[in-house]
Amino acid sequence: TAAQLAPTPPMGWNSWNHFAGKVDEADVRAAAKAMVDSGMAAAGYKYIVIDDTWQGKRDAQGFIHPNSKFPDMPGLIQYVHSLGLKFGIYSSPGPQTCAGYEGSYGHVQQDAETYARWGVDYLKYDLCSYLGIMHKEAANNPAKALAMQQAAYLKMYKALAAAGRPIVFSLCQYGIGDVWKWGPSVGGNLWRTTGDIQDNYARMATIGFGQAGLAKYAGPGHWNDPDMLEVGNGGMTNEEYRTHMSLWALLAAPLIAGNDLSHMSPATLAILTNREVIAVDQDRLGREGDRVSKNGALEIWAKPLTGGAKAVGLFNRDTQPHSMTLQLSVVNFPPHAHLRDLWRHKTVHAHHGAYTVTVPAHGVVLLKLTR
Ligand code: DGJ
Repeated sequence: TAAQLAPTPPMGWNSWNHFAGKVDEADVRAAAKAMVDSGMAAAGYKYIVIDDTWQGKRDAQGFIHPNSKFPDMPGLIQYVHSLGLKFGIYSSPGPQTCAGYEGSYGHVQQDAETYARWGVDYLKYDLCSYLGIMHKEAANNPAKALAMQQAAYLKMYKALAAAGRPIVFSLCQYGIGDVWKWGPSVGGNLWRTTGDIQDNYARMATIGFGQAGLAKYAGPGHWNDPDMLEVGNGGMTNEEYRTHMSLWALLAAPLIAGNDLSHMSPATLAILTNREVIAVDQDRLGREGDRVSKNGALEIWAKPLTGGAKAVGLFNRDTQPHSMTLQLSVVNFPPHAHLRDLWRHKTVHAHHGAYTVTVPAHGVVLLKLTR
């Protein structure tokens, strides 16, 4: 079942954010090895996912083959499995992927069978050129276009089920038609809620803070996906990357690293493997967090955790540091609650039921509250 396949938000690595169309077999092998050697695997990262641009031509029978960048896909997948990791691949319901490579249109069952035969554990299914088909066949009929899209996702879901291998199903259609309301009904274990992330604070913050109100649609087996991590790609400061990681953890978002794992700074690795922050994301209760308050650029978000605990993020979206105060009563905690700072790894203390702290520009203070 969905809850068994993705009981907590999937964690892994995807090639797109750093390598985009240049990714090849050597890059993917290096990423898998680095995931283990760096300690990321031990911290919970598991899926190695190749995004767009692996596809080659179909043979006379219609079966897909990888292009010359991936000379031995089954061998690569075996290697990933031999490291104790799982493997993900990418396709589109359209005739072409977003980067213009071969999509699954007209070959859905064959592709599902190929993935199962290769040992694939995860499929990211990206709408791309299927939008064009929808436009052609349902130009002035949005209801019909949406039904076509849902049918296309359901078709692949059923094909994967028929192929007989458990495969996590990742819907990538940029949030069209409030996908969070119907994602589970077409077999989605996760669904993108927005367009693409970029490696800058403005875009990351627009997406992350824009997730307010979606919490009720997430739970074990079915997660909102505000897109992959940019941590370590160089376009944000480490302070901003800690904000990115904290927000994604509070959102119970899939934690899919998007950097070059074989060339990581110690700071990048520390952000990606902060076990206390990962534990917030991966909490077994499976509840997504939401915004509690907003006062100009200052926002407080909270996520319920098992055992009545709560993770609380104090976010400063301004370009100046600000003092922020958390009234424990605002998140329904008694004045004597225990507070732990998950980035400083230390206990902190409230006074008279309030905790006041200076939050850096574009920064966060992430707390875990227990009774
Ligand atoms: C659009 C998706 O949203 C991205 O994550 C990535 O998969 C690209 N397509 C690849 O073409």
